[in-house]
Amino acid sequence: MTKIGDIDVGDFPLLLAPMEDVSDPPFRALCKEQGADVVYTEFISSEGLIRDAAKSVMKLDIYEKERPVGIQIFGAVMESMLKSVEIVEASGPDIIDINFGCPVKKVVSKGAGAGILKDIDLMVKLTEAMVKHTKLPVTVKTRLGWDHDSIKIVEVAERLQDVGCAAISIHGRTRAQMYKGDANWHPIAEVKNNPRMHIPVFGNGDVNTPERAVEMRDKFGLDGAMIGRASIGYPWFFKEVKHYMATGEKCKPPTMEERIEAARRHLQMSIDWKGEVLGVFETRRHYTNYFRGIPHFKEYRMKLVTSDHSEDVFAAMDLIEKEFAGYEFTQ
Ligand SMILES: Cc1cc2nc3c(=O)[nH]c(=O)nc-3n(C[C@H](O)[C@H](O)[C@H](O)COP(=O)(O)O)c2cc1C
Repeated sequence: MTKIGDIDVGDFPLLLAPMEDVSDPPFRALCKEQGADVVYTEFISSEGLIRDAAKSVMKLDIYEKERPVGIQIFGAVMESMLKSVEIVEASGPDIIDINFGCPVKKVVSKGAGAGILKDIDLMVKLTEAMVKHTKLPVTVKTRLGWDHDSIKIVEVAERLQDVGCAAISIHGRTRAQMYKGDANWHPIAEVKNNPRMHIPVFGNGDVNTPERAVEMRDKFGLDGAMIGRASIGYPWFFKEVKHYMATGEKCKPPTMEERIEAARRHLQMSIDWKGEVLGVFETRRHYTNYFRGIPHFKEYRMKLVTSDHSEDVFAAMDLIEKEFAGYEFTQ
């Protein structure tokens, strides 16, 4: 059994990765239904939180049904991060996660996200102070290092553990790689194989088939897999991985009816949560994957992603359900 602090997250848990504008409450709820063991919010700016910026504060919302849920924050200023811990704690998550991995310039240039990989002492100091400032388990998500020549993840992970970090998720790329090339899981396995490590070490990066998840478990010996892009518009990925891990066999892909039902609920939950305009707009990025593989689908996809009113999107879904009833999806 793997534990994050006192939270039992099962054997080889699957974690939904924090993803900006993707890992919102509706999507997290769908992933949870399909077997995600832990879900994380998208990253939230500590500076935004302490200024009470509406956009940041809204990201703190969680549904009861998605627990255990971690709220992820980023920043590099001690005072702001500690104040944010208090704000985050008040919204009742199960876990607080620190983003030490975001590679984008506007975050890194302020020394936050992956920017902190240039100042490991500060990374450890911030983590230690945050751990001391809350009763919740504090987890860290990071990358292998700043660049190929500065990979010190074994030492970094050990130091984070020593100051009370409850689990670490490692994306197998450096900041310099951004999202290019293949994720390298070998350094993550080195972290896990360090005899001094006792907290869970979760692997992340390119877990995009059930086989890859099994490889992460059996060949690399990690404690769980954090899954990002493979789940976008495809929350069933968690169920498929679980089925494959348990049986060695692939399960049938979801039917058209199941996909339509999930897409409808996804849109409705999004509208309920963030209103008509944003709900319609932000659910768009999921549709391509919901209906991937259907031939001659462009006209229908266009209706889904260009309609500005939910009634038109729902009408497009009704039409798709009718036109493609019984369509057999392949793996
Ligand atoms: C659209 C998008 C948004 C992301 N936003 C975040 C974020 O807010 N916080 C974070 O730690 N990582 C973020 N990431 C990185 C993912 O959590 C993950 O580390 C990365 O996608 C690699 O995993 P994957 O190959 O399973 O997608 C984001 C990735 C994508 C594709």
